[in-house]
Amino acid sequence: MGIIRRTWIRLAGAWAWRRPNGPVRLMAAFSQAERGSSYDVIAALERTERRDLRRTYLFHALDESRHARIFRRRVQALGRQDRAEAALVDAGSLRATGIIGEAPLFEQMGELEFLAFVYVVESLALEQFQVYCDHGMPDPDTIAALRAIADDEKFHISYSRRELEKYRAAGRGAEVRAALFRVRARRIWQAWLRLSRRLGDAVSTLWLWALYLVCVAPFRPLARVEGGGWRTRDADPRPIAEFARAQA
Ligand SMILES: [Fe+2]
Ligand SMILES: [Fe+2]
Repeated sequence: MGIIRRTWIRLAGAWAWRRPNGPVRLMAAFSQAERGSSYDVIAALERTERRDLRRTYLFHALDESRHARIFRRRVQALGRQDRAEAALVDAGSLRATGIIGEAPLFEQMGELEFLAFVYVVESLALEQFQVYCDHGMPDPDTIAALRAIADDEKFHISYSRRELEKYRAAGRGAEVRAALFRVRARRIWQAWLRLSRRLGDAVSTLWLWALYLVCVAPFRPLARVEGGGWRTRDADPRPIAEFARAQA
């Protein structure tokens, strides 16, 4: 899976970084993802019953919030966003784009699965950043930002892995395996849903073009542009009072 995933990141990344406005779009999306992560970790900080993890969650939330600001600054440095990207910073966009759900992840998953989620997602994000940097896809300043952020992500991976090991050592290995499986399966399902939506958009665009070319375009040679300007209408012959009564 490792080599396949790295190859996929490399191919998709080559397109994503080179498309028009690609770096700005990526930085804006990363900024949003980091902002969503900071909210989820703050929710974990509020709800956890493990006092020993509160301080770690606090540092983690502060890291994610700082990452969001770093990516936001890259957006500003790299150029202007178009309206779609600018809309991403709107207050409701995190909910609309599914980055945050109806309830915080911690509430939906509980402590053990949340830690499994942190471990899986942070590991995948770190791998993605490393592929981008190793292949020199972003500009040098963005590579420096990604490398700085990667150091924090290593801390998030190490503490979540350590906590999962503690659960295993306490005889809850089966729960840890099940939580990791659920997290990975959910990510595959969500990736499939995202792909399906894009395919749906592409197919509907294709069909609308076909409909236009078959049903509308053939009549174009027969169409004429109407003359512009004011046109006079015949005055109503009725007296004004009768006309007003008819309008009432
Ligand atoms: Fe982060
Ligand atoms: Fe992180």
